[in-house]
Amino acid sequence: MAMATTTREWNQQNTKKIPLFPLLSLLFFTSIFILLSQFRNAITTTPSSSHSPLHTFQSHHASCDYTHGKWIHHSARTLRYDNTCKEIFKGWNCISGNKSNALQLAMWRWKPNGCDLPQFDPIGFLHNYRDTSIGFVGDSLNRNMFVSLYCTLKSVSNGKVKKWRPAGADRGFTFLDYNLTIAYHRTNLLASYGRWSANDNGGALETLGFREGYKVDVDVPDKTWAQAPSFHDILILNTGHWWWAPAKFDPVKSPMLFFKKGEPVIPLLTPDRGLDMVLEHMIPYVEERARPGAIKFFRTQSPRHFEGGDWDQGGSCQRHQPLLTEEVEELFSVKNNGTNVEVRLVNEHLYKALEGSGFIILDVTHLSEFRADAHPGKAGGKKHDDCMHWCLPGITDTWNDLFIEHLNNIKGRS
Ligand SMILES: *[C@@H]1O[C@H](CO)[C@@H](O)[C@H](O)[C@H]1NC(C)=O
Ligand SMILES: *[C@@H]1O[C@H](CO)[C@@H](O)[C@H](O)[C@H]1NC(C)=O
Ligand SMILES: *[C@@H]1O[C@H](CO)[C@@H](O)[C@H](O)[C@H]1NC(C)=O
Repeated sequence: MAMATTTREWNQQNTKKIPLFPLLSLLFFTSIFILLSQFRNAITTTPSSSHSPLHTFQSHHASCDYTHGKWIHHSARTLRYDNTCKEIFKGWNCISGNKSNALQLAMWRWKPNGCDLPQFDPIGFLHNYRDTSIGFVGDSLNRNMFVSLYCTLKSVSNGKVKKWRPAGADRGFTFLDYNLTIAYHRTNLLASYGRWSANDNGGALETLGFREGYKVDVDVPDKTWAQAPSFHDILILNTGHWWWAPAKFDPVKSPMLFFKKGEPVIPLLTPDRGLDMVLEHMIPYVEERARPGAIKFFRTQSPRHFEGGDWDQGGSCQRHQPLLTEEVEELFSVKNNGTNVEVRLVNEHLYKALEGSGFIILDVTHLSEFRADAHPGKAGGKKHDDCMHWCLPGITDTWNDLFIEHLNNIKGRS
């Protein structure tokens, strides 16, 4: 593999506090912006003060601010795992897909200001988290992170892995020598949803003229993960992309219609208000059912990097280097209202809902905003560029470093 001999540093230090609320979108469907444009004005007036949960967490740990820092290139880094890891979804396998910088992606290290974020040690992790079950609950970006953890652990575990699907999970594995289980529970909205059509006998929504849509039960978890809080010792939740997915939840043809206790919520909610209501119900749902001593994470939004248009307008991500700080602001600032602006907007909703909860916020957003180079793009010959998911190996490896660093800090404290 080609190795750069120079060390390049992208100074990503932010000189002033800015709202760090990036976002992503779900690969296959998401043209996020049609819906967004409808309620963006309302959201942008929200004050951007939502950093407090993270700071609360940090003060407990006397540790550093992992959010702000820079990516540093290290040409001597080795891959944690390679393209032969079978769990890597074909579209994310950038080495096999011949993405020209696929091998370079692992050579960048996130250096937070004022401390280090070490690469986690998979053997130490397997030892320390013996008899533990870890559940990733969320959309395909959480699967992307799950696969990274799986491939890293698999690379040191001599094949002694049992494949199974605990408690509604989409995929799951137990590393038998350690009785450590990791599982992925697929859920797009956290809340349960399904198609809705008008009833001939009429009803509140029918009276308002609705014929078709999606019924989203704000107080009912998707069955894929309803058992997860009582099953796993460690949970990592996310949601976000699908709330801005007009390709699926077309505001006219198939709008999201919110239901609570089985009845439509009237007046109608916009999707961003629906997200708030779902979070209001799902966060306590987890807290009430979590196992004793469980550790709960909520992961922030993962940014997309479409340039020159959205995913369905020929947008692409062709960069081979991380972005510069100014470029990040250009692409993501809410004020600029760019193609990928939704990431920071979603985070505002998450931070607000999580304030005062027992969840640890896993803030992957800002560090990921720099990595316009790390998406699959065209790799593997896709019809539309994928500038939303991440190549593996790639930056969800760093998300796992951050996740495990938080876990180790908690363990060290107790
Ligand atoms: C990647 O390149 C190899 C070698 O040139 C070729 O055999 C393979 O078909 C290519 N794979 C894709 C997905 O284009
Ligand atoms: C394996 O780990 C689970 C937690 O994931 C625990 O409930 C179970 O008792 C462990 N099994 C053994 C044999 O220790
Ligand atoms: C932001 O951009 C979108 C799409 O380009 C546009 O429809 C919308 O009106 C803009 N919103 C604001 C607040 O400028």
